[in-house]
Amino acid sequence: MTDKPILRALKGEVLPVPPVWMMRQAGRYLPEYRATRAKAGDFLSLCYNPELAAEVTLQPIRRYGFDAAILFADILLVPQALGLDLRFVQGEGPRLSTITDMAGVQALRPVSDIHETLSPIYETVRILTAELPRETTLIGFAGAPWTVATYMVAGRGTPDQGPAHLLKDTDRPAFTALIDRITAATIEYLDAQVRAGAEVVKLFDSWAGSLKGRDFEDFALSPAKAIIAELKRRHPTLPVIAFPREAKERYVGFAAAVGADAVAVDNSVDPEWAAAHVQVSGCVQGNLAPHHLVEPARLEEETRRIVSAFSKGPHIFNLGHGITPDADPDNVHRMLAAIRG
Ligand code: CP3
Repeated sequence: MTDKPILRALKGEVLPVPPVWMMRQAGRYLPEYRATRAKAGDFLSLCYNPELAAEVTLQPIRRYGFDAAILFADILLVPQALGLDLRFVQGEGPRLSTITDMAGVQALRPVSDIHETLSPIYETVRILTAELPRETTLIGFAGAPWTVATYMVAGRGTPDQGPAHLLKDTDRPAFTALIDRITAATIEYLDAQVRAGAEVVKLFDSWAGSLKGRDFEDFALSPAKAIIAELKRRHPTLPVIAFPREAKERYVGFAAAVGADAVAVDNSVDPEWAAAHVQVSGCVQGNLAPHHLVEPARLEEETRRIVSAFSKGPHIFNLGHGITPDADPDNVHRMLAAIRG
């Protein structure tokens, strides 16, 4: 189905109206999501319940008719599949057991074992492949190795990724071994999602912006390049979206450097700048600031500004980061009207 709008944009086509979806579109701002999560018990039980995970993936498609659905799962399921303990503490976020040295890396479960944990996710993909409207593209995803490593080293989210930087700077062999293990696991995880029916995959490098100079090359660029090269060797027509969040001027040329078909940009860069410097080399996804869906005074104005800035090249409309739980679901309709109307 190459006539799906998202796939056309990813091939470089300039569409009169950009296709649109939202990061975290299945989430706590939706009452139907909160009801299904309550039925599942907690967030991880929801991720590992294929019927309910497919249901929450479909909810925003039914409500808004987005051009893409993103598989409902989490980037931290990979560390769990590699043997770390994982739980989500209500109101606080994720907690994991930690990796602090080479022995910790060596104690991880082998990559070939990850499917034991992750097979319900592939079942969610299969259900979605059967149930999504024919014009909707199904996006699979994983965290990029650096971002996943920041949680595996710290055991939680951190404002500055300090623990991961410390391990990287004091024990580079151990840190590199960890990155290599996550890279290998991510290839097998995404390959399995694609074999189950995911049509596009996206790599989330939420903390790429904290890597400087050579570290950006070694831990953001190289692993993404290795993952994408191997996925495309196995699936030559698979489109890939890279999201090195907060990469700033390093967004320029990033997609080509890693072999991605599109780069997602966050809302710290101006759309006019991104159109001139990033979109010149291919499809760009982005970049409305999520707060406009909470405080909508400038919602339509900013939405139209982004549509207009990117209108001369291939563009997928999205937010610059995930929609927040305090967003008003009605504001999403207003955003869509400003894009499509
Ligand atoms: O709708 C979608 O975008 C698909 C599903 C999805 C989730 N997480 C569901 C989720 C995706 C693509 C992610 C990616 C993810 N997860 C990232 C990268 C993108 C980003 O936001 O930077 C990261 C860093 C994580 C790790 C993670 N998951 C954290 C730090 C948290 C806690 C913070 C929070 O928002 O509560 C989560 C939880 C999470 N992942 C929720 C959802 C819907 C909220 C959980 C709940 O329902 O209580």
